Amino acid sequence: MAGVVVSGGDAQGFEGRITAYVILCAIIAAFGGLMFGYDIGISGGVTSMDDFLEKFFPAVYARKGKVQENNYCKYDNQYLQLFTSSLYLAALVSSFGASKVCSKFGRRPTMQIASTFFMTGVILNAAAMNIAMLIIGRLFLGAGVGFANQAVPLFLSEIAPAKVRGSLNILFQLFITIGIFIANMINYFMSNVHPNGWRISLGLAGVPAIILFLGSLIIPETPTSLIEREKLEEGRRTLKKIRGTDNIDAEFDSIMEASEMARQVKDPFRKLLKRSSRPPLVIAIVMQVFQQFTGINAIMFYAPVLFQTVGFKNDASLLSAVITGLVNVFSTLVSVYLVDKAGRRLLLLEACVQMFITQGIIGAILLADLSPTSSLNGTEAGIVVLLVCLFVAGFAWSWGPLGWLIPSETFPLETRTAGFAFAVSSNMLFTFIIAQSFLSMLCHMQAGIFFFFAAWIVLMGLFAKFLLPETKNVPVDAMVERVWKQHWYWKRYMIEEDGDYGYKMKNLESGPSK
Ligand code: BGC
Repeated sequence: MAGVVVSGGDAQGFEGRITAYVILCAIIAAFGGLMFGYDIGISGGVTSMDDFLEKFFPAVYARKGKVQENNYCKYDNQYLQLFTSSLYLAALVSSFGASKVCSKFGRRPTMQIASTFFMTGVILNAAAMNIAMLIIGRLFLGAGVGFANQAVPLFLSEIAPAKVRGSLNILFQLFITIGIFIANMINYFMSNVHPNGWRISLGLAGVPAIILFLGSLIIPETPTSLIEREKLEEGRRTLKKIRGTDNIDAEFDSIMEASEMARQVKDPFRKLLKRSSRPPLVIAIVMQVFQQFTGINAIMFYAPVLFQTVGFKNDASLLSAVITGLVNVFSTLVSVYLVDKAGRRLLLLEACVQMFITQGIIGAILLADLSPTSSLNGTEAGIVVLLVCLFVAGFAWSWGPLGWLIPSETFPLETRTAGFAFAVSSNMLFTFIIAQSFLSMLCHMQAGIFFFFAAWIVLMGLFAKFLLPETKNVPVDAMVERVWKQHWYWKRYMIEEDGDYGYKMKNLESGPSK
């Protein structure tokens, strides 16, 4: 893969307003996030619907009906988990292919391929007659997610005027949460539509995919991608259009220069293995591991199942999932507002405290009062829902959006897309692990699973405190000088290496480091 570039630094003073056209393009692209979010939210509700279970997972259905059955193990079934997790496996594999397509053919075709994969998956799922159709459908959906998650954040970063890049990037996460919320609501209504409500739930996933496809016929290719592929005139024209001014020479030259530098790096994946790439690479991967080990997707995927476990009836548990979905959306807005003011680290650290306390109390309540064969009383079950909401809120203004934002802003230009592909695929890998194992873990560890996640939260808090540098207000192209070379630990990796073109260039431009 040739190097791919993201244009502009935050403080370079390029001319150009936030045009209506840019906003329209950003919203269309963010439908890729909605597509992803819809999938995250839909599977949990569908897997708790009786019609669906009876048709595809009769063993789980039979077990669910038995009064004496162990609360924690009702849903422990490898195939049921595979239904949810297969999507992430496909997304993991496809994100590397997607990063190649993205740099060779552009962001726009990558989004079109994403929506085509996605629509194929939707048709297979909505029409499913057996488990094979279901799982193959999920694999297509996963390929769609892999392609969309690679192209959309890059597209957003590249078309955004530099000064609003952070907020536009979080638009992706915001649309993920809206997708999860819509899915929860649809599940709530469809659970009363018999016998095919689940088909409608799964089928409606096609709507954001169609919008993304049709929208991608309107949006332009990013100037960066055009220039990188040597379509210079088209790149210049597009830049003028999205910036709403003819005065784009400075930004155009900067993209040209960045493309030139990135082109010198023939194999960004090899460059990523170099010592000097270690800090952003480690952080990109560790952010994803930690994001998933907060336990968020245990809740996003299996909230209805979890709420049934603590004693709610089907409807009430789907409704509780709707409430947590709403909390997720609104708390993400807090992050849009605060991320460039309070900074990344403060949000992450505050959230660790909040998530640790809530996971700990949920665990304690379940340990004390939820035996395998009884349920919690109404008040306690209500408290659990409240605690889940507080947990989700903490996640939504921190590790959720920042898990995507930080890897997109900490790589130097020449390894940015390759590095981001690692972030996407690590995210998918750990999402897969949680999706595939949560119901079994719940069955074997029972309330202990919440203490397990709480322990991870302590670890990630220590990581954020000591190893994660603050990147608020640092121009993306100044990360090496202003962040990595100044950090008490990571600076030891910032030694020049032979053939390490990118850093040498930077040193020439910005003088010796302090
Ligand atoms: C994560 C997803 C998660 C979602 C919840 C995203 O940032 O990558 O795994 O389900 O946030 O809102």
